[in-house]
Amino acid sequence: MNTPNVSKEAILNAFQYRHATKEFDATKLVSNEDINFILQTANLSPSSFGFEPWHFMVVQDKELRELLKPVAWGAPLKLDTASHFVLGLTMKAPMTKWDSDYIMSMMKDVKQFPEDVIEMYSTFYREFQERDFNLDTDKKLFDWASKQTYIALGNMMTAAALIGIDSCPIEGFHQEKAEALLQDKFGIDTHKYGLSYMAAFGYRKEAPAHAKTRRDFKDIITWK
Ligand SMILES: Cc1cc2nc3c(=O)[nH]c(=O)nc-3n(C[C@H](O)[C@H](O)[C@H](O)COP(=O)(O)O)c2cc1C
Repeated sequence: MNTPNVSKEAILNAFQYRHATKEFDATKLVSNEDINFILQTANLSPSSFGFEPWHFMVVQDKELRELLKPVAWGAPLKLDTASHFVLGLTMKAPMTKWDSDYIMSMMKDVKQFPEDVIEMYSTFYREFQERDFNLDTDKKLFDWASKQTYIALGNMMTAAALIGIDSCPIEGFHQEKAEALLQDKFGIDTHKYGLSYMAAFGYRKEAPAHAKTRRDFKDIITWK
């Protein structure tokens, strides 16, 4: 693996270029190669203990996109125009609790840990969940896992911007209604997965309406 060698200027330029795209040019499609590149950066994202508590569903079916509109007030224009539309799904308590089948299979099958390492990891993970982070309700476990799914979101949007692809993160939806729909029509078991966000990818229809605004750099950083 080579040491990465991208210029700081190119990276900051991508951060300036990225904006929450309100409307995409519906005639321009992101290539399969490029969307797979973006999704790979989700796959390579870091997660707590490396347990990857996420799944990403790419919704290209027009009828399914249409069904999302009534439950997602922040999304209709993006559902109509984005080249690719991704649902950021996060595992719920039955999957992420320290002694779940999923966690066991991650350690055994994906990480291929030997038995003694599995035992050690399980103890750490249990203490982390029960003692350090006090994840004692299903809601707390979901929100904690969700934070990790957002790391993948950041990485996907930055990776997209670096290759000139636009994006929009979307939390403008009714979580309960959206999840009911995902259970009904999208084949998602919502006892196992919840919807953290939606993310649209494509090419901007027009330049951003406003220049980027941010708080002053010195107001958000403190050195001690
Ligand atoms: C978690 C999250 C949820 C967001 N939800 C929506 C949304 O539902 N609809 C939308 O148009 N923009 C949404 N945005 C975009 C923000 O409004 C936007 O990122 C912010 O105003 C800063 O502008 P910029 O991204 O263009 O720099 C969301 C952003 C984040 C990070």
